Amino acid sequence: MTYILGLESSCDETAAAVLAVNDKGEFRVLSSIVASQVDTHRLYGGVVPEIASRAHAEAISSITYEALEKAGMTPKDLHAVAVTTHPGLIGALLVGVNFAKAFAFANHIPLYSIDHMKGHIAAAYLGEEPPKPPFLALAVSGGHTALYRVDDYTAYHRIGTTRDDAIGEAFDKVGRLLGIPYPAGAGFDRLAGEGFCHVTGAATPEAGFAAFGKSSIRRDALYRLPSPALTDGSLDLSFSGLKTASVNILHRVEQGGLAFDAAAFAASFTFEAVSAVVKQTAQALEMTKVGTLAVSGGVAANSHLRAALAALCQKTGTRLCIPPASLCGDNGAMIAAQGYYALLSEAPAGAALNASAADDVE
Ligand code: KG4
Ligand code: ZN
Repeated sequence: MTYILGLESSCDETAAAVLAVNDKGEFRVLSSIVASQVDTHRLYGGVVPEIASRAHAEAISSITYEALEKAGMTPKDLHAVAVTTHPGLIGALLVGVNFAKAFAFANHIPLYSIDHMKGHIAAAYLGEEPPKPPFLALAVSGGHTALYRVDDYTAYHRIGTTRDDAIGEAFDKVGRLLGIPYPAGAGFDRLAGEGFCHVTGAATPEAGFAAFGKSSIRRDALYRLPSPALTDGSLDLSFSGLKTASVNILHRVEQGGLAFDAAAFAASFTFEAVSAVVKQTAQALEMTKVGTLAVSGGVAANSHLRAALAALCQKTGTRLCIPPASLCGDNGAMIAAQGYYALLSEAPAGAALNASAADDVE
């Protein structure tokens, strides 16, 4: 059995987990502790980097020992420590990286540097039926929206990405304007569900999503929004136009004192955001012909995106792997899972290991 400690502090969650890997390479999460700072950042409507760094510094040691205790382990039982080094908020990352360095070197445990996005994708390996490379990975979070062709457990190629805002960021920013507290994703999801039902008359939000494109209310300018899918032949997306159009509509409503159906608007926004991601994913599946799609990141919890991707995969005969909701957001178990493949394939990091805010996946 191989035991790996995974540490994550790239944004507003301090997380630690212990993963057990058996001789067949099968994973079991022995503990996963996530200390969320969401309540603190909610006061400001988004993540405040300096507050995030300080909260990580306060939590990281106790969270790590809590994860070890819950797993029934001491540091000497561990075979590797895996830590997120990039991308993310630099001050937040530095807390995890420096803690991991001190912890690993003091306890003589090999240390591995993990890319946060590869970690998100590795969350799919912790599900019931893990994907096996080659597969297509869709990562949708508060900081990223990208498609990767995963050729091997450590060979990732980004084949599509957002050119500006991430999908989760768009939900959070427009959700804030609709009065949904940060992070707005889950509240937006529920509001859009109501909108799909009452705009289309469907009994379920899923059926409403499917019928929404044909709905007449979308001809009304107050609910008509641009698609984030680029039409330049790339698999890229741009959420800034969708966000600006939303801001303009909400200003027009406020200034003109116009009647406004927030649920119908949330449905329209969700329809465009989800349809664009599904359109680029469909093209990527056709291009790569891999037959398996793994979805990860906080926005993978979105019920409308899940339903639309399930429909796409059914239509195209693609195997769909989505990790359990508890592993969709930031956590240490996903970092430990990618850490296992780093342990198998690369040399451990040295004392010079550093954090970086930038994304370096090709
Ligand atoms: O992966 P994650 O925990 O952190 C990042 O690495 O960004 O993702 C957080 C994002 C937030 O933007 C949050 O609003 C969004 O995931 N989110 C959702 C839902 N649940 C969380 N977005 C849409 N629908 C949801 N149900
Ligand atoms: Zn994340």
